[in-house]
Amino acid sequence: MKVQIVEVGPRDGLQNEKEHVSTAAKIQLIDKLVAAGLHRVEASSFVNPKWIPQLADAEEVLKGITWSSDVTYSALVPNVRGMERAKASGLTEIALFMSASETHNKKNINKTMEETFPVLREVAREALALGMRVRGYVSTVFGCPYEGAVPIDNSRRVTHELLEMGVFEVSLGDTIGVATPKQVREVMEKIVKDTATERLAGHFHDTRGTGLANVAAALDVGIRTFDSSIGGLGGCPYAPGAAGNISTEDLVYMLNGMDWDTGVNLERLLEAGAFIQEELGRELPSKVLKAHLAA
Ligand code: HMG
Ligand code: MG
Repeated sequence: MKVQIVEVGPRDGLQNEKEHVSTAAKIQLIDKLVAAGLHRVEASSFVNPKWIPQLADAEEVLKGITWSSDVTYSALVPNVRGMERAKASGLTEIALFMSASETHNKKNINKTMEETFPVLREVAREALALGMRVRGYVSTVFGCPYEGAVPIDNSRRVTHELLEMGVFEVSLGDTIGVATPKQVREVMEKIVKDTATERLAGHFHDTRGTGLANVAAALDVGIRTFDSSIGGLGGCPYAPGAAGNISTEDLVYMLNGMDWDTGVNLERLLEAGAFIQEELGRELPSKVLKAHLAA
């Protein structure tokens, strides 16, 4: 029984760090995550560096990593300008993103939802023509920091639009970590009515401590791909109060105990967690990392 993990720490994790993290540290982190057996790594973002200064070095990071042939490296791309940068960096996968709520979409990418669709469609068209794989994110599926509850039909519509563009997998985001297992079941059961579970992933932030419980609920619905972040780093700069993603160490520990095969070596993963904790100079949220370092 296999579960795929998409490591988003170098992107979602670091994008919210106030202190500048060196390019060399980002490169080392990615190489360590790959050495731990992660096969899908979101390495950075090709967004406007004025909006996300921490990831302004996306090109340098991708130049510096030791490319492994059995790993898919990816990065966020919001528009055609980002696509040009991704293409020049040699990526074989990109990720599109937008929100299921109007206000978060506007704050995050400066466009209404209707204005966003054609931009993403154009990016997807270019990426697919180059033979790239295109992933998609729907943010604020389980709640919006500005609007509160988000109608499930909004998420269904965005999921449908992304799949129509040729996206191979849509990651459903609990951007601000408000979801509970009951809601995850309700929302995902509705979404899997028109989308196969193999096309979906769960992206849970752990702001309120429900992240891993939400993974368990999504597993029950049939979801087999989850995004997580080393150390539990992370947050969205345009979602006030949003904390880190679920921690990859905690996710792997839990999945191991449930007999799911992730292909990840927990010992090596903990080395990567300890490395980035040391680099950032503060204790990270991962509980398994904490327990490991205390032992
Ligand atoms: P904008 O300012 O409206 O863009 O930003 P614009 O098209 O008007 O261009 C303004 C300037 O930015 C121009 O330069 C462009 O060339 C430049 P100027 O002429 O002023 O010198 N520019 C760029 N430069 C480099 N790369 C680019 C790029 N695009 C424009 N790609 C934009 C619109 C979408 C670019 C901006 O709003 C942006 O970058 N937003 C990104 C915000 C972000 O990264 N948020 C976090 C990621 S999403 C997330 O975390 C959620 C997720 O984890 C899932 C979940 O948790 O739910 C995925
Ligand atoms: Mg996120």
